[in-house]
Amino acid sequence: MENQLNPDNLPNNLPNLPTRRRFITITSGFIGSLILGDRALGATKPVAKKPVVKKPVVKKPVVKKPVAKATSTPAPSASPSASPSASASPTPPPNTAPDAPVIGKASATGATGATIAFTAPAKNGGAPITSFIATSNPGGIKVTLPQSDSGTFTFAGLTGGTAYTFTVVAVNSVGTSSASAASNEIKTLDVVPASAIAIKKSGVALTLADIEVGKTISATNSATNTNLFVARLGEDLFKGYPTSCTHQGGPLAIQGKTLDCPWHGSKFDAQSGAVTTGPAGSPLTPIKVAALNGALYII
Ligand code: FES
Repeated sequence: MENQLNPDNLPNNLPNLPTRRRFITITSGFIGSLILGDRALGATKPVAKKPVVKKPVVKKPVVKKPVAKATSTPAPSASPSASPSASASPTPPPNTAPDAPVIGKASATGATGATIAFTAPAKNGGAPITSFIATSNPGGIKVTLPQSDSGTFTFAGLTGGTAYTFTVVAVNSVGTSSASAASNEIKTLDVVPASAIAIKKSGVALTLADIEVGKTISATNSATNTNLFVARLGEDLFKGYPTSCTHQGGPLAIQGKTLDCPWHGSKFDAQSGAVTTGPAGSPLTPIKVAALNGALYII
């Protein structure tokens, strides 16, 4: 129950009361405060602060989401077959082209032919050899032998008087081997033209062995059975000369390095046919001479 005092009934001798506006509110069982104007006269009973009770922070357990594992196909190395303890038999290596054949002896058989021997390689690459192919150099002429063993090639159609070497390859169902080493060099025989005239000495064909380089000899035209001089200017260089003087046709004779005319004393160089002493004014007219397969011919 609340009792209220009328400020007008308060005694006027209350000290230090600046105004008459004062009141006392008394609440039964409790005097909360005395307020005079805007000045506090009494201490307010401290309000007991409730202790702050910190609630323990309950940490939520971190739940890790399981990481999804990749579903890729396992590597081949993880397969049981790759295990060192696997009992599967090893895979045989794939077949390859054969090894190179071994070149043999090459031989000329004429002006346009040759033979070349070869030996089959020891390793055929796992597949049977089906053929061998030989190639000429120069010319690139090829000859094929459809066989699996060693053998001999026979070439035709080569060029006469030409030096050749040959190589051989082996072929199987996989491919072609590398080339063998080059053969020995051969030289096909010279082709003797039908118009060529053999030169003879004492009734026998004149050969390279009958005349030295730098020398001139007397020989016979086998077609006309007349004489001529044959000079060898180099290893494979020959010239022929008539035996009559260019002055008035006197008979020439070999005198060392000159061809001398007994009629008026003219002399000619035995190698070049040039006049070295007159009165002849013209050199000897050369005759074309060549060595074919070791023999001398007028061509
Ligand atoms: S014919 Fe030979 S020099 Fe006169």
